[in-house]
Amino acid sequence: MGFEPSERVKQIHYPIREVTVPARILEKKGIKILKLNIGDPCAYDFDSPPHLKEAIGKATKDGWNGYTPSEGYPELLKAVAGRELERNGVKYEAEDLCVTAGITEAIQLLYFSALNPGDEILIPGPVYPQYITSTPLVDAKPVAYRTIEAEGWVPDLEDIKKKITPRTKALVVINPNNPTGALYSRRALQAICDEAGSRGNLFIISDEIYDELTYEGEQFTLASIGKDLPIVTLNGLSKTYLSPGWRIGWAMFNSPNGKLEEIKQSFVRLARARLCPNSICQRAALAALHGPKDYLKETNSKLKQRRDYCYKRFNQIRGISTTKPQGAFYIFPRILPLAEKWNNSPWKNDKEFVLDVLNSAHVLVVNGSGFGETYGAAHFRSVILPPIDILEEAFNQIERLMEKRLK
Ligand SMILES: Cc1ncc(COP(=O)(O)O)c(C=O)c1O
Repeated sequence: MGFEPSERVKQIHYPIREVTVPARILEKKGIKILKLNIGDPCAYDFDSPPHLKEAIGKATKDGWNGYTPSEGYPELLKAVAGRELERNGVKYEAEDLCVTAGITEAIQLLYFSALNPGDEILIPGPVYPQYITSTPLVDAKPVAYRTIEAEGWVPDLEDIKKKITPRTKALVVINPNNPTGALYSRRALQAICDEAGSRGNLFIISDEIYDELTYEGEQFTLASIGKDLPIVTLNGLSKTYLSPGWRIGWAMFNSPNGKLEEIKQSFVRLARARLCPNSICQRAALAALHGPKDYLKETNSKLKQRRDYCYKRFNQIRGISTTKPQGAFYIFPRILPLAEKWNNSPWKNDKEFVLDVLNSAHVLVVNGSGFGETYGAAHFRSVILPPIDILEEAFNQIERLMEKRLK
């Protein structure tokens, strides 16, 4: 018998990457799998902008190879604050900011520094799974609030109101949203701020990693609407700046009346214990924040075309229907035989559906329940990232499978 692993870590699941295991087995047999599962633009025909790549090479030649301050380079903190002021009209001091190894590390540092065992964290349903995945590490309880599919997946305010308890410590908002692609209106965000403000016992975590990837409508940063509320906004290089592998993100603490001061201090204390974020990639982040953004025009125009195609094709396939994403790079269709409880459904649940699509149509998507059982089930998530010819091939294969299964 070997040594027993940690009980906590046994509870950790990350569904987006777990579906790749059966896909790899098929690939080993020589079967080509069309992968629509991972939100990485660089896995398709997008790449980090040239000025960011140049900054990486230059940084290492110029000797930025040592440790950095734990919070990140002061000039990067200044650049992050500059972006927030310019784009969103929100003012931060350098002490309000901390650079992390992607938003993922920021989520973990935030959970460790803010949550005690038994604390509840209100998360959207469905949700980007990291917000659930990290809860066993601190014995906190994720509580999903409903987002309303029929209304474009907007947060259900009544459900939020019902689910806030004395143990609720934080409320998560993801805008634009993964996995639904929803972009929230100013009114919807204002309503969330009003509710959180009236309760007073919770702070907001606003994940805005897709903020400049939108196809129609404007993205509002929550901190510009709830200036007088305790809000931790998360952002970084992974999506808008097309550089997810570089692992740079940042947390921004909006702390009226010092309400988040102690949590921020704990966050930074932990950040010191993990030494620092990657040095050369921070130099690239500096180039990203100071450099041109013209690449975004082409990126968004390509994505919009692909979004339109995905929306059209999925709605034409028998047994599938979907809302239209307005931002990020995902689509979250409904599997009708499951969602509408057809008597003759060929699958028992969305996981079976996804495995059937993988094994029979050779397309890899993620089961909706991986984004939360209650509100994600009976759906699946696909990225809209690949070029249209690849999407076409994938959708043709899914369409043929659905025709066969639903005969
Ligand atoms: C909503 C959301 N937040 C955070 C992340 C991960 O961000 P990072 O690469 O900065 O860790 C993702 C990745 O898909 C995401 O969808």
